[in-house]
Amino acid sequence: MNLKDCHNFDDFRKLAKKKLPSPIFHYIDGGSDDEVTLKRNTESFNSYDLIPSVLSDVGGIDLSTTVLGQKIDFPLFLSATAMHRLYHHHGERATAKAAEKMGTMFGISTMATTSIEEIGKLTNGPKLFQLYIHKDRGLTDNLIERCKKHGFNSMCLTVDTVVAGNRERDHRTGFSTPPRLNLDSLLSFAFHPKWSLNYLLSGKFKLENIIHMTDKGSSIDKSVMDYINEQFDPSMNWKDAEYCVKKWGGPFALKGVMSVEDAKKAIDIGCSAIMISNHGGRQLDGSRAPFDQLAEIVDAVGDKIEVILDGGVRRGTHVLKALALGAKACSFGKGYLFALGAAGQEGVVSILQKMKAEINRDMILMGCKSVKELNRSKVVFRKN
Ligand code: LAC
Repeated sequence: MNLKDCHNFDDFRKLAKKKLPSPIFHYIDGGSDDEVTLKRNTESFNSYDLIPSVLSDVGGIDLSTTVLGQKIDFPLFLSATAMHRLYHHHGERATAKAAEKMGTMFGISTMATTSIEEIGKLTNGPKLFQLYIHKDRGLTDNLIERCKKHGFNSMCLTVDTVVAGNRERDHRTGFSTPPRLNLDSLLSFAFHPKWSLNYLLSGKFKLENIIHMTDKGSSIDKSVMDYINEQFDPSMNWKDAEYCVKKWGGPFALKGVMSVEDAKKAIDIGCSAIMISNHGGRQLDGSRAPFDQLAEIVDAVGDKIEVILDGGVRRGTHVLKALALGAKACSFGKGYLFALGAAGQEGVVSILQKMKAEINRDMILMGCKSVKELNRSKVVFRKN
């Protein structure tokens, strides 16, 4: 199997499984506890059916939308995810270039393995920075200032990860960062010599944006769960979020909002967007799927704040359903991380091309010329 055999998310996932050492594959693939929420995130899209209009003259389709102040060519962007060097030795650079090529936005994480400065130089395309508030609060100011200086357009603060979810697959595989060779994992790395060699030859693994502030940035040498529990600040509150919004002063999203009450508070502190998200089913298992929660949140706040749907998106029709319920755009994480693991930049371009082509074809089949025409009349809740 190789890139030309990848036609959809499942194919990229299979190829990534082949290419990546198993602790790394399972770190992307896994959720928390029993992975109920992880599964529901995608299944939830089946609760609604699309209703097409026919004979609608869909000659020229406009898929573009504006989100967080940035125009993107189609309504799906790359959610910020951590440590891309684990998935491909070009790391976030590959993701950034793929997003630029495809005319969409991407994000890098506080836990990125490429620096804000390097990404700023690499692309003028729309870029988002994702903040995690560490106990060392000086880090937050430092990150925001650097993003301002280096051409980032928007920022999001992840609010669903003040403590790590229980990712049992990581316990079983012994996943650590940097990847550690021990008896459990040795075989898996040995069976993936290409990945292992590229990894070893591409410089020291570092969390580039925080390395200068915390020695943990280069030698976590433990599970990501331990890192989160030691470094992230569980006392983070609405005042802290408001501080970040003001300090940034540009388009700002809270990522991980799941309730109407919190969406209203996000408006009160000056956010321009919320990302309805449960961290890809990696945090609170049993929490509701973003898509299941979308209509209620849009009804309450959709005219005052941009609503982005993050989680479970695997198909063009998922994006159409979310937009029909009122989302401004969708974002995905696993969707492009498997592609990155499968084939680097080329893989990410390929999954984005496929998703864009699906969205385009589905729009034509729906009889919609522009994403603005996707509204509640185009979807119906399936009762059983
Ligand atoms: C995760 C964090 C680091 O989900 O975003 O693993």
